[in-house]
Amino acid sequence: MTTLKSLPENSCAYEEYDPKTLKPVNESTFTRLMELGWKKEDFAGKSVLDIGGNSGILSLYAHNLGAQNIHYVDVQAPLVEFFESVVGEHKLPIEIERKGFLELNTEKHSKDIVLCMEVLHWLVDQGGNVQDSIQKLTDLTNETLFLETPWDVKEPSIAAKGVVLEEHYNIEMIIRELQAHFETVEMVRFMTYFGNMADSKRILIKATGKRTNNLQSSANDSVINEDYSLAPAAA
Ligand SMILES: C[S@@+](CC[C@H](N)C(=O)[O-])C[C@H]1O[C@@H](n2cnc3c(N)ncnc32)[C@H](O)[C@@H]1O
Repeated sequence: MTTLKSLPENSCAYEEYDPKTLKPVNESTFTRLMELGWKKEDFAGKSVLDIGGNSGILSLYAHNLGAQNIHYVDVQAPLVEFFESVVGEHKLPIEIERKGFLELNTEKHSKDIVLCMEVLHWLVDQGGNVQDSIQKLTDLTNETLFLETPWDVKEPSIAAKGVVLEEHYNIEMIIRELQAHFETVEMVRFMTYFGNMADSKRILIKATGKRTNNLQSSANDSVINEDYSLAPAAA
C-alpha cells in the first residue's frame, strides 16, 4: 500500500490541490481550471496524454470530465511519486510513467487528446526546438492538441534563465508550425491565473483536424497577390 505524499514544494501555485480531498487549494488553481473552458462533451470517453503533468492536476481534471485511458508523464521523480501516491490512494484509472518528452513514442503514447501545458518552452530550454516539438506533438495527437504556452521569451520564468532566444521561441513561429500540421488552430484565450505579472502573457491554443499532408511554411503563403482586391465581390 502506498502512503499519500505531500506535493513537492517546487510545484507552482496553479498546480496545487489537496491530495486527500482532490480539491484545488487556492484561487490560482480555481481560476486556471475555469479559464481552460474544458467541457464534459470534449473529454467524455476520450483517451488523454498529459505531458509534463507535474502534480497531475490536469489528469485529474480530465478524469473528472469523463476521459478514459489517461496517461500521465513527467521527468521529475518526486512529482511522479507524489502523483502515484494520489492515484493509488483514490484508486484512479490513470497510468503514470516517469518519462521525458523525447522518449514518448506514437505506438504507446498516442492519444485522442494531448495536453502540452506549460511545457513547450522547457523543451526548447532543454535544447529542443519548436518545429521538432510540434511535429512530435502532432504525431502523438489523434484528435485534439491543447497547448498552453508563454507568448514569448519575455515571460519571467524564461527570461530569468536567459537560455531561450526570441528567434528560437515566439508565438508567430508556434502558430505557423501548428497551422502547418492542423486544419484548425484556435487561440482560445489569454490565461490570467498568474495575476498581473509584468511581461507574463500565456495563451491557451487548441489545435484540431490533423492535416494528412503537412503544409510547408504556411505563414509565407499569403492570400495577397497582384490580382487581389478589397472591393466587395460583385452581386
Ligand atoms: C510548468 S510545469 C506545467 C505542469 C502541467 N503541465 C500544468 O500545466 O499544470 C512543467 C512540467 O513539465 C515537466 N517537464 C519539463 N521538461 C520535461 C520533459 N522534457 N519531458 C516531460 N516533462 C517535462 C516538469 O517536470 C514540470 O512538471
